[in-house]
Amino acid sequence: QTGVITLDEGFVNTGSTRSSITFLNGEKGVLRYRGYPIEELAAKSDFIETAYLLIFGELPDAAQADEFRVGIREHTMLHEDMRTFYNGFPRDAHPMAILSSVVGALSTFYQDSMDLNDEKQVEISMYRLLAKLPTIAAYSYKKSMGQPFIYPNNELDYCENFLHMMFATPARDYMVDPDFAEALNLLFIVHADHEQNCSTSTVRMVGSSNANLFASISAGIGALWGPLHGGANEACVNMLETIAADGGNVKKYVDMAKDKENGFRLMGFGHRVYKNFDPRATIIKATCEKLLAKLQLDDPLFHVAQELQDVALKDEYFIERKLYPNVDFYSGVIYRALGIPVDMFTVLFAIGRLPGWLAHWKEMHDTPGKRINRPRQVYTGSTAREFVPINER
Ligand code: SDX
Repeated sequence: QTGVITLDEGFVNTGSTRSSITFLNGEKGVLRYRGYPIEELAAKSDFIETAYLLIFGELPDAAQADEFRVGIREHTMLHEDMRTFYNGFPRDAHPMAILSSVVGALSTFYQDSMDLNDEKQVEISMYRLLAKLPTIAAYSYKKSMGQPFIYPNNELDYCENFLHMMFATPARDYMVDPDFAEALNLLFIVHADHEQNCSTSTVRMVGSSNANLFASISAGIGALWGPLHGGANEACVNMLETIAADGGNVKKYVDMAKDKENGFRLMGFGHRVYKNFDPRATIIKATCEKLLAKLQLDDPLFHVAQELQDVALKDEYFIERKLYPNVDFYSGVIYRALGIPVDMFTVLFAIGRLPGWLAHWKEMHDTPGKRINRPRQVYTGSTAREFVPINER
């Protein structure tokens, strides 16, 4: 049978896309990047090493890891002319709109790395995206704050550099708390890939037309922004704040989510593939508890989230539909603890997901005889009929 792929553990998947990057088993709550369990990578790896694993298929040795980090560091700055783009955005422009616009525009500044058949040029484009997304993101935050942009500091590691660009000002430097960098590093790892999700499928779709890599990633950013996808982390914290402001009455909102009429859903809950606990939610929740304890922070939203989870998981509606917290349910509480504004949460999801997008783009692009994606349809419209002049209609 075409398209039937028998994966290990007897899980048979009949999908149209074949990929060797990430394995999910939704019933068992299993997630592996290139065969490595997410729990191990979260505990023992760092984001840049995980990015290398996803893109090139193997964990790097020390020399490969160093070369990869240096390659990224070389490209952290944005072309000075691109800074003027930010003057054109309204002060309250959503940072996902800025991210997708500026990433798409990278193709106009870096024509020297656009030949998709030149492996070196593709690699430089990948370095440029990995290096510049944090810079573009931090600049959008500075724009919203009316503060000057802070240049990247290549003495800092990836997560530290991002936090420094976000929160340092010319008037006062920002010492990055190692606990903050560690929490961000873990969040980026668990967001790094998730097989054929909406935004990754978008990157593969756009990339299959031989559009340039910057355009493909910009399209993925647009898909991720939707509140049913990556935008759920922002929507979830807004929902938790509403519940907290409403006396923490979680039962009211669980009941609302069961009533189809009002179109309300528990953000951060449910998943197309996971019909068990999302293993990422388990990791993120534990990280959240550890960070809040370390910071001696008592965020009421974390208590609301825990209670919401407890009440929903005992409710027949959620049990029979196998709806569990997903990756977006607790991540926002950590971002809040780091001082990240809520409208930046999905931008951080995009920074984390970039290695997965690049890995899938590369896998698609390197497939011998690859063809443009052209899904077929089942036609349900009218059968053939004759044109009727307007005066006879
Ligand atoms: C991500 O694909 C990926 O891997 C995505 C992702 C990744 O890493 O790339 O994991 C990231 O996008 C996580 C999901 C983030 N989105 C949300 O948290 C938004 C809230 N969740 C839902 O909208 C929903 O659960 C989806 C979008 C995640 C999944 O939608 P599906 O698979 O299309 O499920 P469905 O809409 O068909 O729901 C099945 C049933 C329906 O009820 P019935 O019609 O059977 O009576 O479950 C209900 C839904 O109404 N339902 C919910 C619900 N999610 C599903 N009811 C209340 N609250 C919810 N959150």
